[in-house]
Amino acid sequence: MTFEKQILCIGAGYVGGPTMAMIAMKCPRYKVTVVDINSARIAAWNSNALPIYEPGLDALVQKTRGTNLFFSTGIEQGIQAADIIFVSVNTPTKTFGHGAGKAADLQFWEKTARQILVHATNNKIVVEKSTLPVRTAEAMERILNQNTKNIHFEVVSNPEFLAEGTAIADLENPDRVLIGSQETPDGLKARKAIVDIYAHWVPRDRIIECNVWSAELSKLTANAFLAQRISSINSISALCERTEADITEVAAAIGKDARIGAKFLRAGVGFGGSCFKKDILNLVYICQSYGLTEIAEYWESVIRINEWQERRFVRTMLESMFNTIAGKKIALLGFAFKADTGDTRESPAIVVARSLLEEHADVVVSDPKALDNAREDLKDVPQALSFEVDPYRATDGAHAVALLTDWQLYRDLDYERILQSMEQPAFLFDGRNILDHKKLFDLGFNVFAIGKAPLKHF
Ligand code: NAD
Ligand code: UDX
Repeated sequence: MTFEKQILCIGAGYVGGPTMAMIAMKCPRYKVTVVDINSARIAAWNSNALPIYEPGLDALVQKTRGTNLFFSTGIEQGIQAADIIFVSVNTPTKTFGHGAGKAADLQFWEKTARQILVHATNNKIVVEKSTLPVRTAEAMERILNQNTKNIHFEVVSNPEFLAEGTAIADLENPDRVLIGSQETPDGLKARKAIVDIYAHWVPRDRIIECNVWSAELSKLTANAFLAQRISSINSISALCERTEADITEVAAAIGKDARIGAKFLRAGVGFGGSCFKKDILNLVYICQSYGLTEIAEYWESVIRINEWQERRFVRTMLESMFNTIAGKKIALLGFAFKADTGDTRESPAIVVARSLLEEHADVVVSDPKALDNAREDLKDVPQALSFEVDPYRATDGAHAVALLTDWQLYRDLDYERILQSMEQPAFLFDGRNILDHKKLFDLGFNVFAIGKAPLKHF
Protein backbone atom coordinates (compact mmCIF):
# COMPACT_ATOMS: atom_id res chain seq x y z
CA MET A 1 0.00 0.00 0.00
CA THR A 2 1.27 3.49 -0.76
CA PHE A 3 0.76 6.00 2.01
CA GLU A 4 -0.15 9.67 1.59
CA LYS A 5 2.23 10.79 4.29
CA GLN A 6 4.98 9.39 6.48
CA ILE A 7 4.89 10.37 10.13
CA LEU A 8 7.74 9.57 12.49
CA CYS A 9 7.68 9.86 16.26
CA ILE A 10 10.98 9.86 18.14
CA GLY A 11 10.36 8.60 21.69
CA ALA A 12 8.15 5.56 22.35
CA GLY A 13 7.06 6.43 25.88
CA TYR A 14 3.79 7.20 27.66
CA VAL A 15 3.08 9.97 25.15
CA GLY A 16 4.69 8.78 21.92
CA GLY A 17 3.19 5.27 21.95
CA PRO A 18 -0.48 6.05 22.67
CA THR A 19 -0.55 9.29 20.64
CA MET A 20 0.86 7.67 17.53
CA ALA A 21 -1.43 4.65 17.92
CA MET A 22 -4.40 7.05 17.89
CA ILE A 23 -3.09 8.95 14.86
CA ALA A 24 -2.53 5.64 13.02
CA MET A 25 -6.05 4.53 13.87
CA LYS A 26 -7.68 7.75 12.74
CA CYS A 27 -5.50 8.37 9.68
CA PRO A 28 -5.31 5.04 7.82
CA ARG A 29 -3.67 6.68 4.81
CA TYR A 30 -0.69 7.88 6.86
CA LYS A 31 2.15 5.58 7.76
CA VAL A 32 3.16 6.12 11.38
CA THR A 33 6.50 4.87 12.70
CA VAL A 34 7.60 5.18 16.33
CA VAL A 35 11.32 4.89 17.09
CA ASP A 36 13.32 4.81 20.29
CA ILE A 37 16.90 4.29 21.42
CA ASN A 38 15.62 1.85 24.01
CA SER A 39 15.47 -1.43 22.07
CA ALA A 40 13.80 -3.31 24.96
CA ARG A 41 10.98 -0.78 24.90
CA ILE A 42 10.55 -1.17 21.15
CA ALA A 43 10.56 -4.96 21.51
CA ALA A 44 7.80 -4.64 24.11
CA TRP A 45 5.75 -2.41 21.80
CA ASN A 46 6.06 -5.16 19.19
CA SER A 47 4.99 -7.88 21.64
CA ASN A 48 1.77 -8.79 23.41
CA ALA A 49 3.05 -7.24 26.66
CA LEU A 50 3.15 -3.52 25.88
CA PRO A 51 5.66 -1.49 27.93
CA ILE A 52 2.96 0.65 29.57
CA TYR A 53 -0.43 -0.12 31.04
CA GLU A 54 -3.20 2.12 29.78
CA PRO A 55 -6.86 1.11 29.45
CA GLY A 56 -7.81 0.63 25.79
CA LEU A 57 -4.22 0.78 24.54
CA ASP A 58 -3.82 -2.93 23.80
CA ALA A 59 -6.88 -2.96 21.56
CA LEU A 60 -5.79 0.19 19.74
CA VAL A 61 -2.30 -1.19 19.06
CA GLN A 62 -3.70 -4.55 17.97
CA LYS A 63 -5.85 -2.82 15.35
CA THR A 64 -3.09 -0.72 13.83
CA ARG A 65 0.27 -2.38 14.43
CA GLY A 66 1.70 -3.89 11.25
CA THR A 67 -0.91 -2.11 9.11
CA ASN A 68 0.05 1.56 9.33
CA LEU A 69 1.68 1.66 12.79
CA PHE A 70 5.25 0.43 13.21
CA PHE A 71 7.64 0.38 16.16
CA SER A 72 11.33 0.30 15.33
CA THR A 73 14.86 1.15 16.44
CA GLY A 74 15.70 2.36 12.93
CA ILE A 75 15.97 6.05 13.79
CA GLU A 76 18.14 6.94 10.80
CA GLN A 77 15.85 5.33 8.20
CA GLY A 78 12.83 6.73 10.02
CA ILE A 79 14.15 10.28 9.78
CA GLN A 80 15.01 9.92 6.11
CA ALA A 81 11.56 8.66 5.17
CA ALA A 82 9.47 11.07 7.26
CA ASP A 83 7.58 14.16 6.12
CA ILE A 84 6.61 15.06 9.67
CA ILE A 85 8.67 14.21 12.77
CA PHE A 86 7.06 14.35 16.19
CA VAL A 87 9.61 14.51 18.99
CA SER A 88 8.32 13.00 22.17
CA VAL A 89 11.46 12.31 24.15
CA ASN A 90 11.69 12.78 27.90
CA THR A 91 12.46 16.25 29.26
CA PRO A 92 13.12 15.61 32.95
CA THR A 93 14.30 18.10 35.54
CA LYS A 94 18.02 18.76 35.28
CA THR A 95 19.97 17.06 38.05
CA PHE A 96 23.37 18.66 37.48
CA GLY A 97 25.09 21.96 36.78
CA HIS A 98 23.37 25.29 36.21
CA GLY A 99 19.66 25.16 36.95
CA ALA A 100 19.95 21.73 38.64
CA GLY A 101 16.71 20.79 40.41
CA LYS A 102 14.57 23.20 38.36
CA ALA A 103 15.45 23.69 34.71
CA ALA A 104 14.40 21.17 32.07
CA ASP A 105 17.17 18.83 31.00
CA LEU A 106 17.13 19.30 27.25
CA GLN A 107 19.95 16.90 26.40
CA PHE A 108 17.64 14.23 24.94
CA TRP A 109 15.81 16.89 23.01
CA GLU A 110 18.96 18.42 21.56
CA LYS A 111 20.41 15.01 20.68
CA THR A 112 17.25 14.33 18.72
CA ALA A 113 17.56 17.64 16.88
CA ARG A 114 21.12 16.77 15.92
CA GLN A 115 20.10 13.27 14.80
CA ILE A 116 17.44 14.81 12.56
CA LEU A 117 20.00 17.22 11.18
CA VAL A 118 22.50 14.47 10.36
CA HIS A 119 20.09 12.04 8.72
CA ALA A 120 17.57 14.28 6.95
CA THR A 121 17.85 14.54 3.20
CA ASN A 122 14.79 16.70 2.45
CA ASN A 123 12.57 19.36 4.07
CA LYS A 124 10.80 18.32 7.27
CA ILE A 125 8.24 19.56 9.74
CA VAL A 126 9.51 18.94 13.25
CA VAL A 127 6.82 18.87 15.92
CA GLU A 128 7.55 19.52 19.58
CA LYS A 129 5.36 16.97 21.35
CA SER A 130 7.49 16.91 24.49
CA THR A 131 6.79 19.59 27.09
CA LEU A 132 9.47 22.24 26.69
CA PRO A 133 10.45 25.64 28.07
CA VAL A 134 8.95 28.58 26.20
CA ARG A 135 11.19 29.60 23.28
CA THR A 136 12.73 26.14 22.81
CA ALA A 137 11.47 26.12 19.21
CA GLU A 138 13.81 29.04 18.55
CA ALA A 139 16.85 27.01 19.67
CA MET A 140 15.58 24.02 17.71
CA GLU A 141 15.23 26.05 14.52
CA ARG A 142 18.69 27.55 14.99
CA ILE A 143 20.27 24.09 15.29
CA LEU A 144 18.33 22.60 12.42
CA ASN A 145 18.54 25.46 9.97
CA GLN A 146 22.34 25.77 10.36
CA ASN A 147 22.60 22.91 7.87
CA THR A 148 24.57 23.17 4.65
CA LYS A 149 22.37 20.63 2.83
CA ASN A 150 19.88 23.27 1.70
CA ILE A 151 17.13 21.61 3.75
CA HIS A 152 14.45 23.68 5.46
CA PHE A 153 13.04 22.63 8.82
CA GLU A 154 9.87 24.17 10.21
CA VAL A 155 9.35 23.71 13.95
CA VAL A 156 5.79 23.47 15.23
CA SER A 157 4.67 23.18 18.87
CA ASN A 158 1.90 20.66 19.53
CA PRO A 159 1.98 19.95 23.28
CA GLU A 160 0.16 16.91 24.60
CA PHE A 161 -2.55 17.23 27.26
CA LEU A 162 -3.42 13.57 27.82
CA ALA A 163 -3.54 12.29 31.39
CA GLU A 164 -2.33 8.81 32.20
CA GLY A 165 -5.01 6.28 33.00
CA THR A 166 -7.38 8.05 30.58
CA ALA A 167 -4.90 8.58 27.73
CA ILE A 168 -6.90 6.80 25.04
CA ALA A 169 -10.16 8.59 25.87
CA ASP A 170 -8.29 11.91 26.11
CA LEU A 171 -6.66 11.36 22.72
CA GLU A 172 -9.89 10.28 21.08
CA ASN A 173 -11.94 13.12 22.50
CA PRO A 174 -9.59 15.94 23.51
CA ASP A 175 -10.84 19.18 25.10
CA ARG A 176 -8.57 20.88 22.61
CA VAL A 177 -5.56 20.31 20.41
CA LEU A 178 -3.06 23.15 20.41
CA ILE A 179 -0.89 23.86 17.39
CA GLY A 180 1.56 26.72 17.42
CA SER A 181 3.80 27.79 14.58
CA GLN A 182 5.70 30.75 13.25
CA GLU A 183 3.39 33.15 11.46
CA THR A 184 5.43 33.10 8.24
CA PRO A 185 4.15 31.46 4.99
CA ASP A 186 6.26 28.34 5.69
CA GLY A 187 5.18 28.33 9.34
CA LEU A 188 1.50 28.55 8.42
CA LYS A 189 1.89 25.78 5.85
CA ALA A 190 3.49 23.51 8.45
CA ARG A 191 0.74 24.40 10.93
CA LYS A 192 -1.88 23.38 8.39
CA ALA A 193 -0.19 20.00 7.84
CA ILE A 194 -0.51 19.27 11.59
CA VAL A 195 -4.08 20.60 11.73
CA ASP A 196 -4.91 18.21 8.86
CA ILE A 197 -3.79 15.22 10.94
CA TYR A 198 -6.07 16.01 13.89
CA ALA A 199 -8.94 17.17 11.68
CA HIS A 200 -9.42 13.47 10.79
CA TRP A 201 -11.28 13.08 14.09
CA VAL A 202 -11.17 16.22 16.25
CA PRO A 203 -13.93 18.80 15.65
CA ARG A 204 -12.38 21.83 13.97
CA ASP A 205 -13.44 24.23 16.74
CA ARG A 206 -11.36 22.25 19.22
CA ILE A 207 -8.18 22.63 17.19
CA ILE A 208 -6.61 25.84 18.41
CA GLU A 209 -4.00 27.59 16.31
CA CYS A 210 -1.61 30.10 17.81
CA ASN A 211 1.94 31.36 17.75
CA VAL A 212 4.64 28.91 18.71
CA TRP A 213 5.57 30.63 21.99
CA SER A 214 1.96 30.68 23.20
CA ALA A 215 1.66 26.95 22.51
CA GLU A 216 4.84 26.20 24.45
CA LEU A 217 3.85 28.36 27.41
CA SER A 218 0.22 27.15 27.47
CA LYS A 219 1.36 23.62 28.23
CA LEU A 220 3.41 24.63 31.28
CA THR A 221 0.63 26.96 32.39
CA ALA A 222 -2.10 24.31 32.10
CA ASN A 223 -0.16 21.91 34.30
CA ALA A 224 0.67 24.66 36.78
CA PHE A 225 -3.02 25.63 37.07
CA LEU A 226 -4.15 22.03 37.51
CA ALA A 227 -1.56 21.36 40.20
CA GLN A 228 -2.37 24.67 41.87
CA ARG A 229 -6.00 23.60 42.31
CA ILE A 230 -4.86 20.41 44.05
CA SER A 231 -2.50 22.28 46.37
CA SER A 232 -5.25 24.81 47.08
CA ILE A 233 -7.76 22.16 48.10
CA ASN A 234 -5.10 20.25 50.03
CA SER A 235 -4.21 23.39 51.96
CA ILE A 236 -7.86 23.78 52.97
CA SER A 237 -8.00 20.08 53.92
CA ALA A 238 -5.58 20.78 56.78
CA LEU A 239 -7.87 23.53 58.04
CA CYS A 240 -10.88 21.19 57.80
CA GLU A 241 -9.14 18.68 60.06
CA ARG A 242 -8.77 21.39 62.72
CA THR A 243 -12.28 22.80 62.42
CA GLU A 244 -14.59 19.83 61.71
CA ALA A 245 -15.45 21.23 58.33
CA ASP A 246 -15.44 18.42 55.74
CA ILE A 247 -13.27 18.89 52.65
CA THR A 248 -15.60 16.88 50.40
CA GLU A 249 -18.50 19.15 51.35
CA VAL A 250 -16.39 22.28 50.92
CA ALA A 251 -15.13 21.10 47.48
CA ALA A 252 -18.68 20.24 46.37
CA ALA A 253 -19.93 23.64 47.52
CA ILE A 254 -17.25 25.71 45.82
CA GLY A 255 -17.21 23.50 42.73
CA LYS A 256 -20.84 24.41 42.01
CA ASP A 257 -19.70 27.94 41.28
CA ALA A 258 -19.38 27.83 37.50
CA ARG A 259 -16.40 30.19 37.74
CA ILE A 260 -14.53 27.67 39.89
CA GLY A 261 -15.78 24.36 38.44
CA ALA A 262 -15.90 20.94 40.06
CA LYS A 263 -12.86 19.20 38.61
CA PHE A 264 -9.44 18.78 40.21
CA LEU A 265 -10.72 19.55 43.68
CA ARG A 266 -10.14 16.11 45.18
CA ALA A 267 -8.06 16.47 48.32
CA GLY A 268 -5.55 13.70 48.87
CA VAL A 269 -2.09 12.66 49.93
CA GLY A 270 -0.63 14.90 47.21
CA PHE A 271 -0.25 14.97 43.47
CA GLY A 272 2.29 12.76 41.72
CA GLY A 273 3.10 11.89 38.14
CA SER A 274 5.97 12.76 35.87
CA CYS A 275 4.58 16.13 34.77
CA PHE A 276 3.25 18.47 37.45
CA LYS A 277 6.35 18.91 39.59
CA LYS A 278 8.77 18.94 36.68
CA ASP A 279 6.73 21.43 34.66
CA ILE A 280 6.17 23.80 37.56
CA LEU A 281 9.87 23.72 38.43
CA ASN A 282 10.57 24.51 34.82
CA LEU A 283 8.12 27.44 34.95
CA VAL A 284 9.76 28.64 38.17
CA TYR A 285 13.19 28.47 36.55
CA ILE A 286 12.03 30.41 33.50
CA CYS A 287 10.46 33.12 35.70
CA GLN A 288 13.67 33.37 37.72
CA SER A 289 15.75 33.68 34.59
CA TYR A 290 13.58 36.62 33.48
CA GLY A 291 14.00 38.20 36.95
CA LEU A 292 10.36 37.54 37.90
CA THR A 293 11.17 36.50 41.46
CA GLU A 294 7.69 36.96 42.96
CA ILE A 295 6.09 34.90 40.19
CA ALA A 296 8.66 32.15 40.66
CA GLU A 297 7.96 32.07 44.40
CA TYR A 298 4.20 31.99 43.82
CA TRP A 299 4.38 28.86 41.64
CA GLU A 300 7.04 27.22 43.76
CA SER A 301 4.63 27.33 46.69
CA VAL A 302 2.35 24.91 44.81
CA ILE A 303 5.11 22.31 45.09
CA ARG A 304 5.95 23.22 48.69
CA ILE A 305 2.32 22.63 49.74
CA ASN A 306 2.32 19.29 47.92
CA GLU A 307 5.46 18.12 49.72
CA TRP A 308 4.02 19.36 53.01
CA GLN A 309 0.80 17.42 52.38
CA GLU A 310 2.76 14.19 51.79
CA ARG A 311 4.72 14.69 55.02
CA ARG A 312 1.53 15.66 56.89
CA PHE A 313 -0.07 12.35 55.88
CA VAL A 314 2.82 10.39 57.38
CA ARG A 315 2.79 12.56 60.53
CA THR A 316 -0.92 11.81 61.02
CA MET A 317 -0.17 8.11 60.73
CA LEU A 318 2.62 8.26 63.24
CA GLU A 319 0.80 10.43 65.79
CA SER A 320 -2.41 8.47 65.67
CA MET A 321 -0.58 5.17 66.10
CA PHE A 322 0.72 6.29 69.50
CA ASN A 323 3.87 7.90 68.10
CA THR A 324 5.59 4.66 67.30
CA ILE A 325 5.33 2.44 64.28
CA ALA A 326 8.64 0.61 64.70
CA GLY A 327 8.12 -3.09 63.98
CA LYS A 328 4.45 -2.56 63.06
CA LYS A 329 3.25 -4.00 59.78
CA ILE A 330 1.70 -1.31 57.57
CA ALA A 331 0.06 -2.19 54.25
CA LEU A 332 0.14 0.39 51.47
CA LEU A 333 -2.77 -0.11 49.09
CA GLY A 334 -1.60 1.39 45.83
CA PHE A 335 1.76 2.63 44.66
CA ALA A 336 0.93 4.11 41.24
CA PHE A 337 0.59 7.91 41.24
CA LYS A 338 -3.07 7.52 40.22
CA ALA A 339 -5.47 4.75 39.26
CA ASP A 340 -5.38 2.88 35.95
CA THR A 341 -1.66 3.21 35.36
CA GLY A 342 1.43 1.28 36.38
CA ASP A 343 3.42 4.54 36.41
CA THR A 344 4.96 5.48 39.77
CA ARG A 345 6.96 8.55 38.75
CA GLU A 346 6.80 11.11 41.62
CA SER A 347 4.12 9.02 43.28
CA PRO A 348 3.36 10.24 46.83
CA ALA A 349 3.57 6.54 47.76
CA ILE A 350 7.35 6.73 47.36
CA VAL A 351 7.61 9.44 50.03
CA VAL A 352 5.13 7.69 52.31
CA ALA A 353 6.89 4.31 52.03
CA ARG A 354 10.32 5.78 52.63
CA SER A 355 9.16 7.85 55.62
CA LEU A 356 7.47 4.83 57.22
CA LEU A 357 10.58 2.72 56.66
CA GLU A 358 12.69 5.42 58.31
CA GLU A 359 10.43 4.96 61.35
CA HIS A 360 11.28 1.25 61.16
CA ALA A 361 7.80 0.16 60.18
CA ASP A 362 7.44 -3.16 58.39
CA VAL A 363 6.00 -1.99 55.04
CA VAL A 364 4.09 -4.12 52.55
CA VAL A 365 3.42 -2.52 49.17
CA SER A 366 0.43 -3.66 47.13
CA ASP A 367 -0.69 -2.52 43.70
CA PRO A 368 -2.39 -4.29 40.79
CA LYS A 369 -0.11 -2.84 38.08
CA ALA A 370 2.78 -0.93 39.61
CA LEU A 371 4.77 -3.45 41.64
CA ASP A 372 7.64 -3.75 39.13
CA ASN A 373 8.10 0.01 39.18
CA ALA A 374 7.68 0.08 42.98
CA ARG A 375 10.49 -2.47 43.39
CA GLU A 376 12.70 -0.29 41.24
CA ASP A 377 11.78 2.90 43.16
CA LEU A 378 12.63 1.30 46.50
CA LYS A 379 15.51 -0.91 45.44
CA ASP A 380 18.05 0.93 47.61
CA VAL A 381 15.98 0.47 50.78
CA PRO A 382 17.60 -2.00 53.16
CA GLN A 383 14.77 -2.08 55.72
CA ALA A 384 11.82 -4.41 56.16
CA LEU A 385 9.93 -4.09 52.91
CA SER A 386 7.90 -6.54 50.88
CA PHE A 387 5.62 -6.53 47.86
CA GLU A 388 2.33 -8.37 47.59
CA VAL A 389 -0.15 -7.97 44.79
CA ASP A 390 -3.04 -9.55 46.72
CA PRO A 391 -4.57 -6.88 49.00
CA TYR A 392 -5.89 -9.46 51.47
CA ARG A 393 -2.46 -11.00 51.94
CA ALA A 394 -0.87 -7.54 52.10
CA THR A 395 -3.16 -6.47 54.94
CA ASP A 396 -3.08 -9.76 56.84
CA GLY A 397 -1.69 -9.12 60.33
CA ALA A 398 -1.20 -5.38 59.66
CA HIS A 399 -1.62 -2.68 62.30
CA ALA A 400 -2.58 -0.15 59.65
CA VAL A 401 -3.69 0.16 56.06
CA ALA A 402 -2.88 3.29 54.07
CA LEU A 403 -4.75 3.72 50.81
CA LEU A 404 -2.55 5.69 48.42
CA THR A 405 -3.96 5.10 44.93
CA ASP A 406 -7.60 5.48 43.93
CA TRP A 407 -7.92 2.09 42.19
CA GLN A 408 -11.56 0.95 41.91
CA LEU A 409 -10.40 -2.41 43.26
CA TYR A 410 -9.76 -0.84 46.67
CA ARG A 411 -13.28 0.57 46.85
CA ASP A 412 -14.68 -2.91 46.37
CA LEU A 413 -12.64 -4.86 48.94
CA ASP A 414 -14.22 -6.87 51.74
CA TYR A 415 -13.13 -4.63 54.60
CA GLU A 416 -14.81 -6.79 57.20
CA ARG A 417 -12.54 -9.65 56.17
CA ILE A 418 -9.54 -7.31 56.22
CA LEU A 419 -10.40 -6.02 59.70
CA GLN A 420 -10.69 -9.58 61.07
CA SER A 421 -7.19 -10.39 59.84
CA MET A 422 -5.55 -7.23 61.23
CA GLU A 423 -3.96 -6.40 64.59
CA GLN A 424 -6.27 -4.39 66.86
CA PRO A 425 -6.82 -1.50 67.17
CA ALA A 426 -6.88 -1.41 63.39
CA PHE A 427 -6.07 1.87 61.62
CA LEU A 428 -7.16 2.89 58.16
CA PHE A 429 -5.71 5.99 56.49
CA ASP A 430 -7.55 6.94 53.32
CA GLY A 431 -5.12 9.09 51.36
CA ARG A 432 -7.57 9.44 48.47
CA ASN A 433 -10.88 9.88 50.28
CA ILE A 434 -12.53 7.17 48.23
CA LEU A 435 -13.86 4.84 50.93
CA ASP A 436 -17.06 4.91 52.97
CA HIS A 437 -15.52 6.16 56.21
CA LYS A 438 -18.61 5.90 58.39
CA LYS A 439 -19.17 2.30 57.33
CA LEU A 440 -15.55 1.39 58.03
CA PHE A 441 -15.73 3.06 61.43
CA ASP A 442 -18.90 1.12 62.24
CA LEU A 443 -17.08 -2.09 61.29
CA GLY A 444 -14.44 -1.27 63.90
CA PHE A 445 -11.68 0.59 62.05
CA ASN A 446 -10.16 3.80 63.33
CA VAL A 447 -10.47 5.90 60.21
CA PHE A 448 -8.34 8.86 59.20
CA ALA A 449 -9.25 10.56 55.94
CA ILE A 450 -7.96 13.76 54.37
CA GLY A 451 -9.71 16.96 55.44
CA LYS A 452 -12.20 15.23 57.72
CA ALA A 453 -12.43 14.74 61.45
CA PRO A 454 -10.91 11.37 62.44
CA LEU A 455 -13.34 8.58 63.39
CA LYS A 456 -11.75 6.90 66.42
CA HIS A 457 -12.92 4.29 68.89
CA PHE A 458 -10.62 5.55 71.65
P1 NAD B 1 9.01 8.58 28.59
O1 NAD B 1 10.24 8.65 29.41
O2 NAD B 1 7.96 7.56 28.88
O3 NAD B 1 9.41 8.37 27.04
C1 NAD B 1 10.43 9.06 26.40
C2 NAD B 1 11.14 8.10 25.44
O4 NAD B 1 12.07 8.85 24.66
C3 NAD B 1 11.96 7.01 26.15
O5 NAD B 1 11.50 5.73 25.76
C4 NAD B 1 13.41 7.27 25.69
O6 NAD B 1 14.17 6.10 25.53
C5 NAD B 1 13.19 7.98 24.39
N1 NAD B 1 14.34 8.77 23.93
C6 NAD B 1 15.09 9.64 24.64
N2 NAD B 1 16.05 10.16 23.85
C7 NAD B 1 15.91 9.60 22.62
C8 NAD B 1 16.60 9.75 21.38
N3 NAD B 1 17.63 10.59 21.24
N4 NAD B 1 16.16 9.03 20.33
C9 NAD B 1 15.12 8.18 20.44
N5 NAD B 1 14.43 8.01 21.59
C10 NAD B 1 14.81 8.71 22.67
O7 NAD B 1 8.39 10.04 28.61
P2 NAD B 1 6.85 10.47 28.42
O8 NAD B 1 6.13 10.31 29.70
O9 NAD B 1 6.32 9.83 27.19
O10 NAD B 1 7.02 12.03 28.17
C11 NAD B 1 7.57 12.52 26.96
C12 NAD B 1 7.34 14.03 26.92
O11 NAD B 1 5.93 14.28 26.90
C13 NAD B 1 7.89 14.79 28.12
O12 NAD B 1 8.36 16.04 27.68
C14 NAD B 1 6.68 14.97 29.01
O13 NAD B 1 6.77 16.11 29.82
C15 NAD B 1 5.57 15.15 27.99
N6 NAD B 1 4.23 14.76 28.46
C16 NAD B 1 4.06 13.63 29.20
C17 NAD B 1 2.76 13.26 29.60
C18 NAD B 1 2.53 12.01 30.41
O14 NAD B 1 1.41 11.82 30.86
N7 NAD B 1 3.50 11.15 30.62
C19 NAD B 1 1.67 14.04 29.23
C20 NAD B 1 1.89 15.18 28.46
C21 NAD B 1 3.17 15.54 28.09
C1 UDX C 1 -1.35 15.63 34.04
C2 UDX C 1 -2.36 16.54 33.33
O1 UDX C 1 -3.66 16.29 33.85
C3 UDX C 1 -2.33 16.27 31.84
O2 UDX C 1 -3.20 17.18 31.17
C4 UDX C 1 -0.91 16.46 31.33
O3 UDX C 1 -0.84 16.21 29.94
C5 UDX C 1 0.05 15.56 32.07
O4 UDX C 1 -0.06 15.82 33.50
P1 UDX C 1 -1.34 13.09 34.80
O5 UDX C 1 -0.20 13.51 35.66
O6 UDX C 1 -1.17 11.90 33.93
O7 UDX C 1 -1.78 14.29 33.84
O8 UDX C 1 -2.63 12.80 35.72
P2 UDX C 1 -3.65 13.73 36.53
O9 UDX C 1 -4.99 13.16 36.38
O10 UDX C 1 -3.49 15.15 36.19
O11 UDX C 1 -3.21 13.50 38.04
C6 UDX C 1 -1.98 14.00 38.55
C7 UDX C 1 -1.93 13.78 40.04
O12 UDX C 1 -2.85 14.63 40.73
C8 UDX C 1 -2.28 12.35 40.48
O13 UDX C 1 -1.41 11.95 41.52
C9 UDX C 1 -3.71 12.48 40.98
O14 UDX C 1 -4.04 11.50 41.93
C10 UDX C 1 -3.65 13.87 41.61
N1 UDX C 1 -4.97 14.53 41.71
C11 UDX C 1 -5.68 14.81 40.59
C12 UDX C 1 -5.44 14.90 42.97
O15 UDX C 1 -4.78 14.67 44.00
N2 UDX C 1 -6.65 15.55 43.05
C13 UDX C 1 -7.39 15.85 41.96
O16 UDX C 1 -8.47 16.44 42.12
C14 UDX C 1 -6.90 15.47 40.68
